[in-house]
Amino acid sequence: MASISIKNVWKMYGEIEAVKDLNIEVANGEFLCILGPSGCGKSSTLRMLAGLEHISAGDVYYGDVRVNDLPPKDRKIAMVFENYALYPHKTIYENMANALKIQKMDKSEIDSKVRTAAELLEITPLLDRKPHELSGGQKQRTAIGRAIVREPELFLFDEPIAHLDAKLRAHMRGELKIMQRKLGTTMIYVTHDQLEALSMADRIAVMRDGVLQQLATPSEIYNRPANKWVAGFIGEPAMNFMDCEIIENNGKILLKNDAFESALTKEQSSIIKTNARGNSVTMGIRPDDISFATSAKESMVSGEVLVTELLGGDMLVEAQVSNSRITVKTKPDYSGQMGDTCQLKFDNTRWHVFAGEDGVAYF
Ligand SMILES: Nc1ncnc2c1ncn2[C@@H]1O[C@H](COP(=O)(O)OP(=O)(O)OP(=O)(O)O)[C@@H](O)[C@H]1O
Ligand SMILES: [Mg+2]
Repeated sequence: MASISIKNVWKMYGEIEAVKDLNIEVANGEFLCILGPSGCGKSSTLRMLAGLEHISAGDVYYGDVRVNDLPPKDRKIAMVFENYALYPHKTIYENMANALKIQKMDKSEIDSKVRTAAELLEITPLLDRKPHELSGGQKQRTAIGRAIVREPELFLFDEPIAHLDAKLRAHMRGELKIMQRKLGTTMIYVTHDQLEALSMADRIAVMRDGVLQQLATPSEIYNRPANKWVAGFIGEPAMNFMDCEIIENNGKILLKNDAFESALTKEQSSIIKTNARGNSVTMGIRPDDISFATSAKESMVSGEVLVTELLGGDMLVEAQVSNSRITVKTKPDYSGQMGDTCQLKFDNTRWHVFAGEDGVAYF
């Protein structure tokens, strides 16, 4: 089993800095997702961990062994990529057995390993077929099976289920997590899909432009985003943002803009007081944390309904509030129509405030 240390790692392709001073510790048996938009350096990181890409600066350790110069074949890792290349002329069984045959493993031992993995992935009935006779999802499970049978110390998966349809992807998320738990193998899993990361990972490393933004559990990332960018990247529908001023009135700290003026909680006020860095801030609030006020007295913000969108069990309402568009998640029985005036209530225990200049979260 392997714990992994990534210490001050850089990846340069000529002038391009694809990964910048990355530091991550992955515990033995942990499921770590590397999450970020296209081009943020996820695959470069994974390929350096695998030994497929030269590490420009910094060190990678497996346990306490520095592996910068260790070739991939000596690393006890198994990788699965988005484009899982199976051998087209071999059966599914032979595809899964191939690496073990090369190791000259005993035939009966190979058989037992392949069948156990096939059971786990529910592909036993397919073992005699060729890859072209399989669906995308089945091929992908074969690629994962091929990785499992090698009993690696570390799984390195790069968007392995990106090509599947939404329903199969949701199913595979569960299966992959169960599989990793059963095997207890350390997993580093690259994805640009936040739902995948939030649902599977023990911890998520969020990257942007080669820089680690936050490394934390899914619930911390969702509830305590480190900065405005992470807050906007995580969560669907996305967090609402409004530019505000911090003002002080009668000893109270208030958040103020064209549309509203509202007091911070005691705890929030003390965070602002002790860390104050200028008055311009951005307030962020998730659509789930806004509701429609039933009386004007309750209302904090007044807006105009722009559009309503029924999403199964939820209704999304987009409202114009001053010069911001605010999305509210509410019950499907909401009856407001386009052009109606609406009264919104922000849950001030759930909102976030980010520093104006660099977007770092106060809370
Ligand atoms: N071989 C290469 N030569 C030059 N630049 C590269 C090379 N590979 C990647 N890059 C650049 O490095 C940056 C990071 O690429 P990387 O493949 O790690 O991103 P990614 O996060 O995996 O993106 P995606 O989600 O699109 O797969 C990008 O700007 C990319 O263009
Ligand atoms: Mg990639």
